[in-house]
Amino acid sequence: THRPEGRASLTWRIDEWLLACVANGTGEEVTKLVTTLNDGKVTSPDAVEVVVSPPFVFLPLVKSSLRSDFHVAAQNCWVKKGGAYTGEISAEMLVNLDIPWVILGHSERRALLSESNEFVGDKVAYAVSKGLKVIACVGETLEQRESGATTEVVSAQTKAIAERISDWTNVVVAYEPVWAIGTGKVATPAQAQEVHSELRKWLQKNVSAEVAESTRIIYGGSVNGANSKELAAQPDVDGFLVGGASLKTRPCDDLVNSVDLPEFVDIINAAT
Ligand code: G3P
Repeated sequence: THRPEGRASLTWRIDEWLLACVANGTGEEVTKLVTTLNDGKVTSPDAVEVVVSPPFVFLPLVKSSLRSDFHVAAQNCWVKKGGAYTGEISAEMLVNLDIPWVILGHSERRALLSESNEFVGDKVAYAVSKGLKVIACVGETLEQRESGATTEVVSAQTKAIAERISDWTNVVVAYEPVWAIGTGKVATPAQAQEVHSELRKWLQKNVSAEVAESTRIIYGGSVNGANSKELAAQPDVDGFLVGGASLKTRPCDDLVNSVDLPEFVDIINAAT
């Protein structure tokens, strides 16, 4: 990654790669996913921090059954203290369930539920204030990319977060180009690197050199076992947010002990 040997000397809380997978489906499917992840052979477990993010209703199930070296994230949480916000899950509830991570500002929530940059910024600030670790998603649509507005869009999304927090220790930025999410059209390693580098420069200029250096910027959008190695080699890519591929298995090469292997574990191993 962009961090040289000296990185341990900085005051980083975590200096590993971050890999998060987002699950959907039924309880049976989530249980199957957890079982395959639990059985998966991670080659350098200490080098990668792994987070599994199921829908709210399966958080206790995943938390109680997932291997202890992997962590759990919610896919969203509310912007304020719990109360009369029917249907919402507060940051306090996640803390109460001992869920350490939350994903905020996913493009589906921005697009389908009209979450504005400011609203996402408020959510990030509130979640961080409650001690949650946040994966904050940013990313441009195809139209915005084609009109040359990518940097402007992701900078505005990041600015709305930066204006509301002073401590970035518990924040990871996930760059997820909307056109790459669930489409099979992955950003090229050069495209991902370019935006990650822009984001880091933005943090350096507008927050601080320390925050720019220590904040993990992870990539999401059609990452799979085959393309993860090259993306992982980019200097400013510090991890992945994986959707579809995290739910897949591939046949084992070993025909004698033939079991299906989770593709997500291939992606974890691509980082090391
Ligand atoms: O929530 C993960 C998502 O944004 C990426 O999905 O399927 O393109 O890996 P996918």
